[in-house]
Order: sequence, then structure tokens, then C-alpha cells
Amino acid sequence: MTKNITRRDWLVGTTAVASGLVFAGAASGQDMSEMMNMGAPISKDNPIRMTNNENPYGINPKAMDVIHEAYKKAHLYNFTIGRRLTKVIADMEGIPQGCVIVGAGSGQFLMAAGVVAGLAGGNLVAPSPTFGSITRYAKNFGAEIIEVPVNEDDLHISLDSTRAAMNDETTTVYLCNPNNPIPSIIEKNALEEFCLEVSKTAMVVIDEAYYEYARDEDFSTMAHLVADNPNIVILRTASKIHGFANVRIGFAFAHPDTLAKLQQFRSSTTSYPAMMGAITSYQDTEYQKFIIDKNYESLEILYEMFEELGLQYIKSNANFTFFHAGRDATEVREKLLEFGILVGRKYRTHPNWVRVSTAKPEEMRYMVEVYKREFG
Ligand SMILES: Cc1ncc(COP(=O)(O)O)c(C=O)c1O
Repeated sequence: MTKNITRRDWLVGTTAVASGLVFAGAASGQDMSEMMNMGAPISKDNPIRMTNNENPYGINPKAMDVIHEAYKKAHLYNFTIGRRLTKVIADMEGIPQGCVIVGAGSGQFLMAAGVVAGLAGGNLVAPSPTFGSITRYAKNFGAEIIEVPVNEDDLHISLDSTRAAMNDETTTVYLCNPNNPIPSIIEKNALEEFCLEVSKTAMVVIDEAYYEYARDEDFSTMAHLVADNPNIVILRTASKIHGFANVRIGFAFAHPDTLAKLQQFRSSTTSYPAMMGAITSYQDTEYQKFIIDKNYESLEILYEMFEELGLQYIKSNANFTFFHAGRDATEVREKLLEFGILVGRKYRTHPNWVRVSTAKPEEMRYMVEVYKREFG
């Protein structure tokens, strides 16, 4: 591919441009022989998944029915269903429909933004640690990556440090809010101020993959900014609360001119059954509430153990938490796997911290039992 994207192509109207329901019952005290996962006994080869921040209850049953039915028409191209879905989402967000596009997961838009940022040259500024997709693409396509370490004490993303890391060559700033693997949030007023200021000179990409789980009153989406600010992109996914990880639905919210640039670099479209399922799933707030409530029930089970064992941890605004195990994360991962539990991988920046995705409460209780026995 030729390197034919300029900073001017990426940034719009900026000074930079001018200058360049399965309600599971409680269970505790279970041993591994009684525990089932996906219809089979749990084991090292069929572990309870606490590693990819998935929805342990799966797709909304009503959406699943719609998806099955939609497959009867999946042999036909459908060029209108996307508009029905983006209308539902735009109305929910209170933004113009022209500011929403749907794709096969938000990863597709992270890729597109990363490619454009890479081809634009200069640098992309991102917190560390964070979700690595956009930085990987930006680096592969030619951008320098400037990593901004999270605060040492509370592990929060620092907007001041992010500003300080930027320079005249910065074309893009990526923020993940709530962050991943550290499920903390950025205070909403400070973030809005940051977006308005920084978008004058750089593209601000905010990944809100865990948006639906965030309960902190200081959290807010920045979706309301996109219509009037062409250099702000918001990303959402149905992979988490909607359980669509392998169905593939994600959204980008941005000014139509900015969406047109991302569209040039997206890899594929999603399917009619996926979009039909999403229309049902997004509108069924009852099921979403059930998933959120179960998520927080599971988190409480973990927090109780962390408190009991005196382990430092991050209060979560997502469907996972991050805790200081006081030992190598790989050792924890391998030991838990022996008992049919798969937690997150080791992070380079925080080798003694472990990310645990929430499973069902009864599975969390089992994990707590095993963890206390092995490491307590
Ligand atoms: C922060 C973040 N963004 C994006 C994604 C990718 O989501 P999708 O499945 O929509 O591509 C993930 C997946 O784990 C994530 O954690």
C-alpha cells in the first residue's frame, strides 16, 4: 500500500491542519467434578473463561431467536438493515443517524483508525497499559507510539500526563474509557474539556467498549461531542454486554466526514442476522440490567476475597477487575488453570497484577475457593 494519507487527510478543520435469561442459582462449596462449563465438565481443556471479558450468560434469548429466524434470509444481500440498526442506536444516544456506522465489531474501527493514523505519520499517544489494537496498526503503518504510563498510585489514566506527552507531531490520541486491563474511568468533566481542547490539533479516539457496565457517577460517554467535533471518534461494541463477541457488531460514532475516512479502511461488513439480533438486544434493557446486576454480584465476591487477603485491586466499571496478586501473573494463571479456571495473561507493565473477567457468581465462588486454598 502506498503511503498516501497526510495529516491533512486525517484531521478535519484544525489548527494542525491549517499548519499542517438464564437466571442461575447460587452455588458454593462445589468441587471441580460438579462444575460444568458449556455443557461439559470443567477441566484444564474446558476451563471457566475469566480471560476475554465475555458475557458469561450469552446472547439475549430473544435476540437469539431473531438471529435464527434471520438466517432464513441470509443468502440474500441486504443493503437496508444497517440503516435500521444505526437509527436505533442514534436515537438511543441522541445523536444524528449520520454520525453512526455499524461494522463487524469495534475492532474493525480500531484497525481503520490505526491504519489512518499510521499512514498520517507523526505519533499516536495512548495510555499504558491499555487495549493494544489501535497502537498495533498505527505502528505497523508508520506512526510512532507514545505510551503514557497510568498513575502509579491509583492506576488511573492521567489526562495531564497525556497532554504533556503530546507534541507537534501528534495526530491521534487514544483513550479507553473504562480502560482495559485496568477498569477505571476518566472523570467526565475533565475528559470533555480534554476532548474539546485536544481535538483542535489531533484526532481523539475514545474506546467505550465497556460503556454499559460503568456505574461511577463521574463516568459519561463523549458521544454528545461527535456531531460538532470532526476530530472525535467514539467506539462501542456489542461483544461485551450483548454477548456478541463472535457475532460481530460494533459501532463508530463520529462526524460524517470522519466516518467516511474510517470507511475507506474497514475490512468487512457484518451480517444481516447479526444486525437483526442487535436491534432486539439493544432495545431489551431488562436483559442488559440482568447482565449488569450479575456482573456486580460477581465483582463483589472477588472484592470480598481481595479485602480478606489484603490484596490491592481496582474497583471495576467493567466486566473484569485487576488485582495485585503479589506474585507473577503467569504463575497464578497456570495454577488456576489446573483447576479449570482461565484468567487473563500477564501484562508487561504490571507483571504481578492479574485481570479477572467476571464469570457467573457461582463460578466466581469456585474461583475464590481455589485461589484462597492455593495462594491465601
Ligand atoms: C477496550 C476494547 N476495545 C475493543 C475491543 C474489541 O471489541 P470487538 O469484539 O467489538 O472487536 C475489546 C475486546 O476485548 C476491548 O477490550
